[in-house]
Amino acid sequence: MNNASRVENERAYLVTGGKPLKGEVGVSGAKNAATKQLVAALLTDEKVTLRNVPAIGDVDATVEMLQGLGTSVEFSENIATIDASNVKTPEVAAAFSRKNRIPILLMGPLMHRFGEARIPMLGGCKIGARPIDLHLEGLRKMGADIVCEDGFYVARAKRLKAAAIELAFPSVGATENLMFAAVKAKGTTTITNAAIEPEIIDTAMLLQSMGALIHLDANRTWVIEGVDKLHGADHRVLADRIEAASFGVAAALTRGQVFVRGARQADMLSFLNAMRRVGVPFTVESDGIAFGSAENYNPVIVETGTHPGFMTDWQQPFVMLLTQANGVSIVHETVFEDRFGYTEALVKMGANIQLHHDCLGSKDCRFRHQNFLHSCIVSGPTTLKAADIQIPDLRAGFSYLLAALMAQGQSRVTGVELIERGYENIIGKLTGLGADIKAE
Ligand code: UD1
Repeated sequence: MNNASRVENERAYLVTGGKPLKGEVGVSGAKNAATKQLVAALLTDEKVTLRNVPAIGDVDATVEMLQGLGTSVEFSENIATIDASNVKTPEVAAAFSRKNRIPILLMGPLMHRFGEARIPMLGGCKIGARPIDLHLEGLRKMGADIVCEDGFYVARAKRLKAAAIELAFPSVGATENLMFAAVKAKGTTTITNAAIEPEIIDTAMLLQSMGALIHLDANRTWVIEGVDKLHGADHRVLADRIEAASFGVAAALTRGQVFVRGARQADMLSFLNAMRRVGVPFTVESDGIAFGSAENYNPVIVETGTHPGFMTDWQQPFVMLLTQANGVSIVHETVFEDRFGYTEALVKMGANIQLHHDCLGSKDCRFRHQNFLHSCIVSGPTTLKAADIQIPDLRAGFSYLLAALMAQGQSRVTGVELIERGYENIIGKLTGLGADIKAE
């Protein structure tokens, strides 16, 4: 870690646990849609307005990155207005590769404009190797010539052409990357075994509003007929189902009662199903979901997967919930090979969590026999004690807050920039529910 990132990772929250969270919280727009849609605005020279954009670190970083290319972006009151008519360079500044994985998605939009894109190597959360082979393979099939030069991926194509692409795994990022390339490529592209997460469907809706010819066919196949020109649009970003689930778990864990305004049942079926099996009461209402709590929770088996499966970003708060279930639960992570590192700190706080290399659960995944600690056994219930904890990545960060909100005593949670990358006004929202949390 260099000096700059060390300082960046030293901000902390002080959390005193033991208070039930009660009341109502509004869910913000989805990080995983808004950041991509900001990039999609580069596909036109006309004005794109995005509403319900969360004020979070990853959005700020994306806005700065677009501005660095010459795009005019205004962002206030959760509305972003993007005018990309003056984009002047195909090169994304190296600094942005350290923040997240959004820069790689600019390959298509910049190649459409300049015949070239220069993208710095990626950073992002440390949750597995996260290669981009599927992105590059698909773009190469569409005629891009991609090489590595001086720490940059340099992709070149005079005009991208359509291709029939089958992804080896339904990668969210690769699907989005290829969509952005295909909407203005010559001919009709098919992306099979593609990701179909609600955030991607929301981004496809924006592209359609911009004039794209795009639809979802059988077998997870996106069909995209390239057009010469896209136009401006006005789009509202869907609600963040990860944030919604995080507050649902917070209600259950602290033995509280929280109405999550804006939570959408359709996007959270697998999560709600798992909550029901654990014994967390919830009621679906027309404008949100009310989560309650119970005295005792049941142990369950959960396997993460691509949509419509149980989201990998729900895994971390859910593991926290399972520390309070009566008995032995199993969680099998099949999307990222290394997404349990955060449990070490929870064990120090008193949780009983064991990691395993085997595929525990009902199915084998692609990490079988590969020596990755990608399953865990959680035995509960356990009492957690307050601690000083350092956040390793964004979603684990919220779990640490949950641990601190439950634990007896005051915890100091460091590295909160990682949480602020993805959760809007987290202190305001939690204190609004009665939590004792403040920035140090
Ligand atoms: C996105 C989300 C993240 C979520 C994840 C899975 C954003 C900003 N992030 O991440 O919150 O947890 O989807 O729902 O939207 N892979 C390859 N080769 C590739 C690309 C991916 O092997 O070229 C592998 C990855 O290493 C990982 C798996 O596929 O094991 C899933 O990755 P992907 O779906 O691409 O996740 P992201 O788009 O990075």
